[in-house]
Amino acid sequence: MTQKRDKGIGILDSGVGGLSVLRHIRELMPNEDLLYFADQAHVPYGPRPAAEIIEFSAQITQFLLAEGSKMIVVACNTASAAALHHLRQDYPQVPFIGMEPAVKPGSRQTQEGKIGVLATAGTFGSPRYANLMARYAQGLVAYEDPCPGLVQQIEAGHLEDEKTKDILQKALSPMLAAGVDTLVLGCTHYPFVLPLIRQISGPDVAIIDPAPAVARQVLRVLRDRRLEQRGSVTGALYAFTTGDADRLQILSQQLLDLTFPTSALVWSQSRLQPA
Ligand code: DGL
Repeated sequence: MTQKRDKGIGILDSGVGGLSVLRHIRELMPNEDLLYFADQAHVPYGPRPAAEIIEFSAQITQFLLAEGSKMIVVACNTASAAALHHLRQDYPQVPFIGMEPAVKPGSRQTQEGKIGVLATAGTFGSPRYANLMARYAQGLVAYEDPCPGLVQQIEAGHLEDEKTKDILQKALSPMLAAGVDTLVLGCTHYPFVLPLIRQISGPDVAIIDPAPAVARQVLRVLRDRRLEQRGSVTGALYAFTTGDADRLQILSQQLLDLTFPTSALVWSQSRLQPA
């Protein structure tokens, strides 16, 4: 399919959301090869049953490992909530980095004891999230909203149109009226609408995107396991999508000002095949 590499970092998401994590990994570790996988045939993951997401994530992981990934970053809160535990069990030798809504940093940040969490229905409904809240949100009031339709708007590149604004207004207005002073972005797509969120929230609300911390964690784990890429040669970027490769290239240009060689794949009987 593509030339086989041995040392890339595999990064997966339902769509372009994980690019908000990739950009921080790239910034911190510009010499690493990055292999990005967008499962755009199945986006959004948010409303899907956990069993489906586990199956997709397992196939994508297998593909990224076969393409030469030395580590897998599950750059998707929904897939981490559903599948991370299973992936770690299935591939005990592979380092995995997952995502979760930054409720712990949010609980430290809030002055009023009121936080807003924006994440998908799949993340909110997961045992992993319930656990997180039980550990770090004691004594806090948490306002949650799954922002229906927001992921699709971002996938369409509509970062600032009226519909996107409406979705965010509906989610944020009740939280802000209730006195929330800290917002946690618990879906990797949402940092791409940060300017709109900021416009609605005003300057005094803290907004937490966990991606920079995730990138630092990636570096720590690579160092601990001596998997870090040495030297200063800039790493290559590759992308794979189960959607439209041209469209992903256009979107990555719009979102990150980066374009990378992109291959299309198709799902055939629950397996990934070249398109
Ligand atoms: N970007 C993903 C997340 O962090 C998933 C969004 C979706 O596909 O619903 O949760």
